[in-house]
Amino acid sequence: MLRTNLCGELTKSELGETVTVCGWVNKRREHGEHLAFVDLRDHSGLVQCVVDNSVDVRGEFVVQITGTVSERPEGTINTELTTGEIEITDTKVEVLSIAEPPVFPLGDTAADVDEMVRLKHRYLDLRRNRMQTNLRIRSKVNAAIRSSMVDQGFVEVETPMLMPSTPEGAREFLVPSRQKPGNFYALPQSPQLYKQLLMVGGVDRYFQLARCLRDEDPRADRQYEFTQLDMEMSFAEVDDVLAAVEQTVLDAAEAVLGERPSKVERLTWHEAMNRFGIDKPDLRFGSELVELTDIFSGTEFKAFAGEGVDKFAIKGINAKGKAADYGRNKLDSLTDEAKLFGAKGLVWIKIAEDGALESPVTKFFSEDESAALKAALDAEPGDLLLIVADTWLTTCTVLGEVRNRVGRPPVHEGPYKYLWVTDFPMFVGTDDKGNPTPGHHPFCHPHPDDIEKMDTDPLEVRALAYDLVLNGWELGSGSIRIHDPELQKRVFSLLGISDEEAESKFGFFLKPFKYGAPPHGGFAYGIDRLTAILAGEDNIREVIAFPKPSSGADPMTGAPGEIEPGVLEEVGVKVLPPAT
Ligand code: AMO
Ligand code: AMP
Repeated sequence: MLRTNLCGELTKSELGETVTVCGWVNKRREHGEHLAFVDLRDHSGLVQCVVDNSVDVRGEFVVQITGTVSERPEGTINTELTTGEIEITDTKVEVLSIAEPPVFPLGDTAADVDEMVRLKHRYLDLRRNRMQTNLRIRSKVNAAIRSSMVDQGFVEVETPMLMPSTPEGAREFLVPSRQKPGNFYALPQSPQLYKQLLMVGGVDRYFQLARCLRDEDPRADRQYEFTQLDMEMSFAEVDDVLAAVEQTVLDAAEAVLGERPSKVERLTWHEAMNRFGIDKPDLRFGSELVELTDIFSGTEFKAFAGEGVDKFAIKGINAKGKAADYGRNKLDSLTDEAKLFGAKGLVWIKIAEDGALESPVTKFFSEDESAALKAALDAEPGDLLLIVADTWLTTCTVLGEVRNRVGRPPVHEGPYKYLWVTDFPMFVGTDDKGNPTPGHHPFCHPHPDDIEKMDTDPLEVRALAYDLVLNGWELGSGSIRIHDPELQKRVFSLLGISDEEAESKFGFFLKPFKYGAPPHGGFAYGIDRLTAILAGEDNIREVIAFPKPSSGADPMTGAPGEIEPGVLEEVGVKVLPPAT
């Protein structure tokens, strides 16, 4: 190595030693007539070097400095730096690379730089402490997950990146074939089909840190390309899958935070919806949904009478102490948002200092209704109550969104609350032909207690499907799969997929199950999402070396770019003029 030590690791225990360090010049300050201070930076930190001021080094030059570790003179100790008690003196400086001035300052104290500028010069941004820390956290997460899986007897297997296009799930990225012009591969949205075939193939326990690609608009928690811990296990039931996954997640959290999260809560989907109005509840704050239907069973207030509404439910939340934060404009825009999520309206009530209810609609409530409402929602002066009346599902969904709007802290803020949500519905809603649509994917096993309801009441059927949630983000999903071809046929037929259609779309996947498939189930969670939260970031871009901004276009490389016509011809592709 061109160095004997890392910059950030030198302390008084190396006093008097001759050392060589390498790195980038973080800052140069002239000191008197003959000397200059050079702060040298590598990934481990900074060290101050005293150099002759004739040495020509400037910001971001790459240099090798050899010298003696010396105590800093009294009064010049920097308690902010781990190396703040020492400096390197009697130095010899070798310039390894000269550098143009960086496009933005790279030191720790540099003010925040516009993200597009950071991404355009990501190689410079990566030198900064934030990205250095985050990439190292990510590496720790990967290592912990891998070793946790291996310890549990899982076998790492790579699956193809070029696969057939299949109709289920998110939009795929397509890759034209040169050898079969006019034909396309799809990049995997996930290794779902292959991992199930690995179970048919007797692998027993599979895992992969799988790169997945989905052509959906990038957001804070979504990228075109992302990484899953993908796993599948044979002869396993729900609790076995959850236990295996949980161990890897907690191992990763412990590797980063130094402390093992104490527990993972567990709710069924129905409980989660009923109490939090969302299938990925954030348990870090209260304001749970409270049932109010009975209180208003004889009400004069039309919106709460529920006439003609199936499965009618009135629920409310108490945004504790938030009355003063919500003026008329904010309440109006909250109401507009509630309507976007499907509500007919949103009742808001502020609790005045004397306990009176302040709202345009409370004049329609009887005294008993008002008193019961206050008691049910534990209303105190300064509170803001928000109420929705609709079908059970709409009421829950809207209030779940409203609850998050008024109370949810940024995702990375502790305490970390891990949660399993189980027993997801097998089907959600119906398509335009009246067929039920699958909740997750069509290979999830129905709950054994509900199989009888499949024909009579499909929307009441639960699946052996579960999600892992952290601070209101969905970390991952999984299920026990259907391994019996007859049951799979029944599910397809319920979905309105004929035998012929199933054969043409999924034939390569279904045929193997005729040759003896073990019962199996699995899971996949987003490593980008887990790492971001553990790193204290709100956006997965901060834990990805080279992410795409929300436009999807990479400002550093210029991708996506045009392709030479000759190359397109070779793969049988003709580009249409841009749509106007
Ligand atoms: P699912 O589609 O729910 O399940 O994906 C599992 C997890 O992958 C992460 N994820 C993403 N992360 C970043 N950017 C994206 N665009 C993105 N899309 C998904 C999320 C999500 O929870 N094969 C099934 C799993 C199974 O049944 O075993 C699957 O992929 O954290
Ligand atoms: P309206 O009777 O439509 O004028 O509504 C009176 C108030 O009740 C308004 O503040 C609406 O936002 C609210 N509201 C109307 N329908 C509902 C509903 N189904 N659930 C909750 N609030 C509602």
